[in-house]
Amino acid sequence: LSVIEIKSNVRNYKVVFGSVKNYLAKLRISEKTTYYIIDHNVWRIYKKSFLKINRNKIIILPVSEEKKNLDSVQRLYGKFIKFSAKRNVTIVSIGGGITQDITGFLASTLYRGVKWIFIPTTLLAQADSCIGSKTSLNYKSFKNMIGTFYPPFELFVDTDFIYTQKRIDFYSGLGEVIKLHIMGGKKYFNFILRAVLDISCSHKLKPAIVNSLLIKKSYIEEDEFDGGRRNFLNYGHCFGHALENTSGFGIPHGQAVVIGMALANIVSRNRGLLSKELEANILNKLFFLSIAEKPAKSSFDVKRIILAMRKDKKRTGSDLPLVILKDGFMLEKINNLKETEVRRAMDEFLHILYRSDLNARP
Ligand SMILES: NC(=O)c1ccc[n+]([C@@H]2O[C@H](COP(=O)([O-])OP(=O)(O)OC[C@H]3O[C@@H](n4cnc5c(N)ncnc54)[C@H](O)[C@@H]3O)[C@@H](O)[C@H]2O)c1
Ligand SMILES: [Zn+2]
Repeated sequence: LSVIEIKSNVRNYKVVFGSVKNYLAKLRISEKTTYYIIDHNVWRIYKKSFLKINRNKIIILPVSEEKKNLDSVQRLYGKFIKFSAKRNVTIVSIGGGITQDITGFLASTLYRGVKWIFIPTTLLAQADSCIGSKTSLNYKSFKNMIGTFYPPFELFVDTDFIYTQKRIDFYSGLGEVIKLHIMGGKKYFNFILRAVLDISCSHKLKPAIVNSLLIKKSYIEEDEFDGGRRNFLNYGHCFGHALENTSGFGIPHGQAVVIGMALANIVSRNRGLLSKELEANILNKLFFLSIAEKPAKSSFDVKRIILAMRKDKKRTGSDLPLVILKDGFMLEKINNLKETEVRRAMDEFLHILYRSDLNARP
């Protein structure tokens, strides 16, 4: 499979797979109005691949969560205002999820929207964040507070980028890949069970990315603007966001999601909605193989976790919401999660986690 088409209320778009060198060579045909924004690490590692692009057309983007804000976007407005190309400009951005969020926001607001092509370079961005139309910026310490719905006009995925990622960033992406494969039902679940140990082999990596996008596509196309079904993508994220918070972002996002799914599964099992067998299967054959490091016990302060869950931007009522997995790979959003259930799930999880001789994978 080399093209996935995504339907969107904003505009339909395609994810194309292949070699980035060939793709960039083709893009240069329209070079006059095209500008490139490249993640600083990607630039450092792949400079030589980009040498044929006119250096004046390249903006190197320093990325960090602290810089994923309006200031960075304003700085980019300043640069683009000076270019002779105006509304007819094309922005090609190359990098991970942070690059995507900053440049997507820029493209959606500059001259009320300009053409934007995104080339994701991390597992998380290739397998998950690149589709779905969202652009998000942080406001002070509030994550993803500001944003727009603005998909790229085209996405180009070269899976070879993944091999230069830092181990911990790779694991973060893996958490989302596992989440999507569980959400995809039995066929995809069995695929990821078999693939998780050697996922970075190229004959497993590309199918895992393609599967992830196809599964996510099935959730977003029906519900682009986050009303119902799309909420299920938050599986693992209710507890996950809270854990990121209580660990001061010491637990990387994708790892927090994996732990969040484990906790949600315990809640579901305790409610009699998820069988012990499926829960144990997921825990032993997927989660423990995809946690790079055991998080410090101090991150699991129940009081602070509950407090953080109460502050989650997606919470609307007074009770705690949670997306849970049920038997048959069905998902449900419950809105009446009790604090006692959180405490019990946390106790059970910590007991399993610190009993297991979880070793970091190779
Ligand atoms: N818009 C959305 O729908 C959406 C969805 C999920 C996550 N996100 C956002 O995505 C961000 C996380 O994205 P991410 O995990 O891709 O992280 P990232 O963009 O921060 O990249 C991680 C690190 O890897 C470096 N890097 C990128 N590509 C590389 C490569 N090929 N080789 C070596 N180093 C490389 C970057 O410079 C950075 O230091 C978060 O801010 C999150 O909020 C957005
Ligand atoms: Zn996520």
